[in-house]
Amino acid sequence: MILSIESSCDDSSIAITKIDDYKLIYHKKISQDLEHSVYGGVVPELAARLHTEALPKILEECKEYFPHLKAIAVTNEPGLSVTLLEGVMMAKALSLTLNIPLIAVNHLKGHIYSLFINQKAVMPLSVLLVSGGHTQIIEATSLNNMKVVAKTQDDSFGESFDKVAKMLGLGYPGGPVVAKMAVDGDEKAYDFPIPLKNSPNIEFSYSGLKNAVRLAIESEQQNLQPSTFNLQPEFIQNICASFEYTAVAHLMQKLKKYFKLTRPKIFAIVGGASANIRLRGELEKLCHEYDCKLLLSPLEFCSDNAAMIGRCAIEQYNLGDFSDINSLDISPRSSF
Ligand code: KG4
Ligand code: ZN
Repeated sequence: MILSIESSCDDSSIAITKIDDYKLIYHKKISQDLEHSVYGGVVPELAARLHTEALPKILEECKEYFPHLKAIAVTNEPGLSVTLLEGVMMAKALSLTLNIPLIAVNHLKGHIYSLFINQKAVMPLSVLLVSGGHTQIIEATSLNNMKVVAKTQDDSFGESFDKVAKMLGLGYPGGPVVAKMAVDGDEKAYDFPIPLKNSPNIEFSYSGLKNAVRLAIESEQQNLQPSTFNLQPEFIQNICASFEYTAVAHLMQKLKKYFKLTRPKIFAIVGGASANIRLRGELEKLCHEYDCKLLLSPLEFCSDNAAMIGRCAIEQYNLGDFSDINSLDISPRSSF
């Protein structure tokens, strides 16, 4: 079995996975959403402090598996430096104490392997990674052959949901709450421009849309009477619906170009924002149109978790891809 640790951002998570049949034996995640919510985003120092409380608590539950462990896996890139360090320090201590090798896992590859928890991997495939930090199309041929073929020029898809939620005072993370508010709103209430609509390039941008939403909110606030200064629920729902509609329409417009050009046989969406129901629905339609198989991670494994890190680590274990305990370091900004 492999014990895997994930602490690249605001989720403390540990998993135990069987190497021979990919079975997830144990998985626990302690999320810090509530603590960061009051700040409207992740505060790295607070995240680091919360990891120091949560990770040892989870590890305590895993002790019975220690005699069966063949390796310790940990996310070492990319992510927040202070929080990545916590996982890596714990992994090094475990590797030393149990005298088993260390496996350093790339968080983005981990998201891709979230598709294959409890099962064998299928490649090649094209993947849309949509998270708080990334919006990319990746062509994956194998574990060590993954190429980013399109990415965002500024904000990411998930981050734009977080920023809209912050502007509306809806807390953090923004994705689930904005998507929920959008259900009862009118997607045509605000005609936000679809980003890069006339550009022939397959690339993404969310800062313009975020600003358009900000202007609409400011304009509404100016119209409010001091006695009813709070934004009304109907306004919030309409903004959320129009924003989500446009954010997804932008992704889909570019994905249609990508499908036309490359005609992928297998397409997947991964990352925290791949839980978005509107996006899932639109992609189902597109894949159907192109007779392409759509792979989706189970909802519980879309956002950051150690199960995906453990699943990726099995591939590395089988290739003998281990890290030296003295030289293993974090790499907060790396991609693949
Ligand atoms: O993958 P993840 O857990 O963390 C990163 O690696 O960034 O993704 C978290 C991101 C947040 O920005 C969150 O707002 C977004 O995923 N998210 C969503 C939804 N659920 C989570 N965005 C849009 N719609 C959702 N339903
Ligand atoms: Zn992530």
